This record gives sequence, structure tokens and C-alpha cells, in this order.
Amino acid sequence: MRHATLAGRAMAFADHGDRPPLLLVHGFPLDHSLWLPQLDALSATRRVIAPDLAGFGATGGAGHESLDGHADDLAALLDHLGIDRAVVNGLSMGGYIAFAFWRRHRARVAGLVLTCTRAAADSEAARAGRYQSIVSIEADGVGPLADAMVPKLVTPAAPADVRSMVDAMVRRQPARGVADALRAMSARPDSTPDLAGITVPTLVVAGADDVIVPAAEAAAMAAAIPGAGLVTIPGAGHLANLEEPGAYNAALRAFLERVDATV
Ligand code: MLT
Repeated sequence: MRHATLAGRAMAFADHGDRPPLLLVHGFPLDHSLWLPQLDALSATRRVIAPDLAGFGATGGAGHESLDGHADDLAALLDHLGIDRAVVNGLSMGGYIAFAFWRRHRARVAGLVLTCTRAAADSEAARAGRYQSIVSIEADGVGPLADAMVPKLVTPAAPADVRSMVDAMVRRQPARGVADALRAMSARPDSTPDLAGITVPTLVVAGADDVIVPAAEAAAMAAAIPGAGLVTIPGAGHLANLEEPGAYNAALRAFLERVDATV
């Protein structure tokens, strides 16, 4: 891991390989290790950068009140690394942050990958669930959240080593950062109005068996983005990149080659 101080805040990030840059933005409540199969497989031909977002992993500390703060951290990280534009790939919460990044820093986006994510804001019921989780985390830490979430993050057929890796990843996240992220996600705006104005090459990846973002919702999002590709990974749940890395990496590689050809 590398470490940087960005506007007075520390950030830890993995940075493997050489150009062209690919920025991987993890989901909730996870850290950069979500992307280990992509760091391993793609760094021979790309510069793969995977931060631990504020509040998570080795970055830790406080999160942000708004996902815009995470988007601004990513722009500051690119500045720090001397990178002008990158393909931005966000999984779930990372996708919500990718939308914020698009709104705030679109000149830095060479292409977008929206993995197992949605454009819609939280429903009232989802917000209420997040507030309950915050109360539970403040009282009992992240253990009960891990118990509830891990079975939704991976499919029942996931290999035991993948399940235990995800379980450990959730349990090691700092309670404060997890609670801050729940607040920020609950406050995020609806990104649906942005979809028609996305002008960079875009790939939407869905897990066929994702119970958090149903594949049909991801397909509808792809249909609303001009020219976007859609790949649905058979047998994959919400963490499609981790559960089916072979199919996921093949789809990502094909997309990245298409982006390379446009620049
Ligand atoms: C994630 O994987 O990042 C979360 O499921 C997103 C969410 O809770 O909305």
C-alpha cells in the first residue's frame, strides 16, 4: 500500500502497474482488497489504483457527510499521482461515488464502469434501515452488520475462501467510517437525471444473482446511458468482480481496449 496526505487527510491506496490509469472505487462496507483479482490480473497492462476510501481500511479516520467528499478525495488522489484522466470503475457505493465524480470532475473521466450499482437515491425504507444500522453499529460495532450483509454480498454458491475473505473484510472496517458512509449514502441524490448526459464510454456490469442491485435494474440503467455496454455475469452476486473474476476481468479488459481505441 502507498500513503498520501491529501488536503491534510491521509489516504492509503494500492497502485500497481503502469499507464493507462484505472481507478477502482470499492463498495460498502469494504476496502481496496475487494479489487485484489483486478489488481493482480490487470496491472500487467494498466496502472491500477485502488484506494481505501476515507473511513475504511488503512485510510480509516472520519468519513464524509456527503459522497461528494469521497469524489473530491479521488480527484485529489489523481492530482497527487499526476494523472489527468482515468477510467473510473465503482462497485455499488463506489458507483454512487463515480456518479458524484462525474458530476464534479467529469473532465477527469476517460470512461466509466458501473459495477453492481444503481442510479436511484435511497427509498424512505432504505434510509430507515440505514439509521437502524447506525444505531446498531454505535452500540455493538460492525459484527451484526457483517452477519446481516455477507449473505447478501455473495451468493450461496460462493467458494468458502471468497465468503470468508468478504466476512473478514467487513468485520475489520472501523465502526465510525461505516456509520459515516451509511449517513452519506442515505443523503445521496438521485443520479438518474445524469444518465442521459454521460458522454464517455460506459460499461454497466451486473451480477445475474445480485440480491442488492437486481440485474434488471442495472440493465435499465445501462439502457438510459447513451451507447453504454451491459454485461451480466452468470453465477455472480453483488461482488461480481470477486465471485467470478475470470468473466469479470474479460469484460473489463474488452471495455478498456475499446476506451484505449477512442483516446
Ligand atoms: C455496497 O455494496 O456498496 C452497498 O450495498 C451499497 C448500499 O448499501 O446501497
